[in-house]
Amino acid sequence: VQAVIARDHAVSVATVADPKPGRHEARVAVVSAGINAADILQARGHYPPPPGWDPERLGLEFAGIVDAVGPATTEVRVGDRVMGITAGGAQAEYVVVDAATLVPVPPEVDLVVAGGFPEAAFTALDALILQGGLVIGDRVLVTGALGGVGSVAVQIARIAGARVSALVRDHTRDAEAYALGAHEVLTLNELHDAGPFDIVLELLGAASLEHALGRLATNGRIIVIGTGSGGSLEFSLRTLMGVRGIVRGSTLRARPIHEKAHLANVVAHRLLPALAEGSLRVHVHGTWPLAQAAAAYEAFSQAGKRGKLLLTVRSA
Ligand SMILES: NC(=O)c1ccc[n+]([C@@H]2O[C@H](COP(=O)([O-])OP(=O)(O)OC[C@H]3O[C@@H](n4cnc5c(N)ncnc54)[C@H](OP(=O)(O)O)[C@@H]3O)[C@@H](O)[C@H]2O)c1
Repeated sequence: VQAVIARDHAVSVATVADPKPGRHEARVAVVSAGINAADILQARGHYPPPPGWDPERLGLEFAGIVDAVGPATTEVRVGDRVMGITAGGAQAEYVVVDAATLVPVPPEVDLVVAGGFPEAAFTALDALILQGGLVIGDRVLVTGALGGVGSVAVQIARIAGARVSALVRDHTRDAEAYALGAHEVLTLNELHDAGPFDIVLELLGAASLEHALGRLATNGRIIVIGTGSGGSLEFSLRTLMGVRGIVRGSTLRARPIHEKAHLANVVAHRLLPALAEGSLRVHVHGTWPLAQAAAAYEAFSQAGKRGKLLLTVRSA
């Protein structure tokens, strides 16, 4: 079985063991697998997977067709079109996961495109709705709004009835942010008099968080998901106290199976109708065959991406 691996900080494709599903698991013949910032970090040796996962294997999300199931698996059957998240190894011809964590791919949705949906969808839905408590009319700031997670987060916030501000690198790509559903497009140096925000989805880290903290509404919540622009900062506790603000952080990867399964159910119930009808879309920057994974990783590291970068493994 062919799989993307990272060895000595270089990405390549190698032959790995053929995975077999355990009792409650399903084996998925992967059609496409998205690339995420965490893969890049892992490949560079900065973000090892949780204990028990092979640090050489890459890939956190996939879509494909179930081709084998364990004896106690009830959630899916051979032949089902599915997508999901995993703590590693999704960029491969086959991936084995707990069947309860799989989400069906609606018939209207292309399996290649679906491979770029789960990581952003699970992350954004969990952060905005389950952790952030987003309700209709909330003012939401999404930093890194044109990236993989951000572009889905802007759409989800809009669908949920929020007033959405999208923070982008510069104003050259405003039209894309408005097309996602943003009401307002901001750059970092415009943040100081924006808001106040009920929810900040912090995908960039310290550089924007430093300013966003001062723009929080009363009872505002900040959910920190990414730290690409810096992982630490000094901020005024009095500012936070004054608005009774909450700052929380979250990661998805190391969560136990039952939490991922719960999230899969919420994604299936809350987001699939919008995905199927096209009001929620995965924006694809480009696709690369699995064998060209190294080139795709290189492209991911360039600024100015427009949505997801996907590795295609087989035709659907
Ligand atoms: N906690 C979790 O469970 C979880 C899950 C998924 C992702 N994440 C993290 O969330 C972050 C976003 O992930 P992603 O997949 O959306 O990454 P991505 O696709 O690379 O998107 C990042 C976006 O931020 C923009 N950006 C970067 N630096 C900026 C700056 N200084 N000012 C303005 N915009 C800037 C990028 O623009 P350019 O293209 O112009 O650089 C890009 O649009 C990453 O740090 C990732 O590790 C966390």
